[in-house]
Amino acid sequence: MKTTDSDSAQDSQATISDEIARIQDDYQSTGVEETQPRLDYAPYRSSLLRHPTKDPHHADPETIELFAPVFGQRDIGTLESDLTVQHHGEPVGERIVVTGRVVDGEGRPVRHQLVEIWQANASGRYIHKRDQHPAPIDPNFTGVGRTLTDGDGSYAFTTIKPGPYPWKNHHNAWRPAHIHFSLFGQEFTQRMITQMYLPGDPLFALDPIYQSIVDPKARERLVASYDHDVTQHEWSTGYRWDIVLTGSHRTPMEEEDSK
Ligand SMILES: [Fe+2]
Repeated sequence: MKTTDSDSAQDSQATISDEIARIQDDYQSTGVEETQPRLDYAPYRSSLLRHPTKDPHHADPETIELFAPVFGQRDIGTLESDLTVQHHGEPVGERIVVTGRVVDGEGRPVRHQLVEIWQANASGRYIHKRDQHPAPIDPNFTGVGRTLTDGDGSYAFTTIKPGPYPWKNHHNAWRPAHIHFSLFGQEFTQRMITQMYLPGDPLFALDPIYQSIVDPKARERLVASYDHDVTQHEWSTGYRWDIVLTGSHRTPMEEEDSK
């Protein structure tokens, strides 16, 4: 979730889209690949307020890694990866399975690490006091899940396809449907936050958060693929999304407190 100042909500989508297009043109003309989200990305109005302006305090990585997270199978219940069974009834919406592998830059599996997700319900509504737009809360859907990667680095969630939702970046601003992901790598210093999108969303071109990754190939790495082998007969549709934590094909990641 995030806040923006109310003035920025006066800008039109056309204004935002013009700014996005101008930045995209400038990026294409540089010829320098840039695969992570820009910290200061003007069409995303509050981005300037959302990152540190001073150098981070450098901690001794060896000391920090003495406290590296270690998760055992008993720490996470198997049902925590199924967001459709957390209440007495079934949530409304399209049931989906999202699965993939978490790997490092060399393609090696990141094993037994915590993957957490949070998302809006099928109507695009979060259970959060700051989300008060007029879409229904689903009493059978909290929108939070977690799991551990297996020995192959694979994870899987069963959930409900989230809906798009409005936010206050500009007038008539809508976020493409997305699922937030938090991951730990093999070291505590590798906690990463990002968002997964669903293919073919018409809001991609309009969304300044998605577009703040100015390299088209890099931002497409945040879009899951429909996978009919993951789809289950008379049960759910299936999507595959792999996450690369390091290296040149690293999945774009963001500052922690994002909408
Ligand atoms: Fe969100």
